[in-house]
Amino acid sequence: MQQKLYTLLELLLTRLKRREYHLDRRIPIVTLFSIVVRRVIWLLRGLLKTTFLQFRPKAIFVAPGVKFRNSGRCRFGNGVTLETGVVLDGLSEFGINLGDSVTVGAYSLIRSSTAMHLGEGMTIGRNSSCDAFSFFGAGGRITIGENVIMGQHVSFHAETHNHSDTDVPIRSQGVTRKPIVVEDDCWVGANVTFLGGAHVSRGSIVGAGAVVNKQYPAFSVIAGVPATVIRSRLPTPKGIDSLDEIGKQKT
Ligand SMILES: CC(C)(COP(=O)(O)OP(=O)(O)OC[C@H]1O[C@@H](n2cnc3c(N)ncnc32)[C@H](O)[C@@H]1OP(=O)(O)O)[C@@H](O)C(=O)NCCC(=O)NCCS
Repeated sequence: MQQKLYTLLELLLTRLKRREYHLDRRIPIVTLFSIVVRRVIWLLRGLLKTTFLQFRPKAIFVAPGVKFRNSGRCRFGNGVTLETGVVLDGLSEFGINLGDSVTVGAYSLIRSSTAMHLGEGMTIGRNSSCDAFSFFGAGGRITIGENVIMGQHVSFHAETHNHSDTDVPIRSQGVTRKPIVVEDDCWVGANVTFLGGAHVSRGSIVGAGAVVNKQYPAFSVIAGVPATVIRSRLPTPKGIDSLDEIGKQKT
């Protein structure tokens, strides 16, 4: 009977998340059901919020303490999860677009604009997630691909303060925006900082604590401050010894 309940739950979750879902049989079924009950409450909250704030009911999971601002500019795929305390501000040129089954970790903030500068906004592709306390400053465009996993405390800063004039306060010198791109199937470790102009190509890994500010070839492992390629995930073919060449061949 217990096994049947696990299987039933797996089927339900696979349907809802649109990807294979396997439950750890060591977790008591009662605990799993309490998670399901919590999820149902989050789903009802998501349906209510999207109905009343956006007039577009959507099957998304919204935990307690989530705040929507300018929600008309936010677009959600099915099964998006916004964990406790997330703040989502849609005010931007292109809006905030979260694909199917995207998860935004607890106490994360997505923001593009100030009253003085309308930002560009961001897109996160389906099945991608960031963990708790992450920050997305989408003044310049941020594009995150599909199946990207991001750890805790990752931050994106697609805008930088101009500072060439020493006679004018930095805050009065305006800003420069550059896009940030993280392509499909990347893994970003904890405490990584992305600066404008960063472009991480598909299949890459970003080591914990890195400051990412350049373009990197596909399937690289990058780390450090500033981040450099420490190795490639690809086997080195005979006659090629540059990481750049390997990345270009696969892109
Ligand atoms: C990048 C990472 C995946 C590399 O793992 P790995 O392939 O097993 O690499 P190794 O541990 O063998 O390290 C290879 C070299 O890179 C260095 N290195 C590894 N991770 C580094 C990092 N985050 N920053 C700087 N250097 C790093 C190592 O010191 C080692 O250098 P050495 O050859 O001079 O001794 C891993 O170190 C990492 O940062 N993982 C992220 C974990 C995390 O944040 N999890 C939570 C969120 S999901």
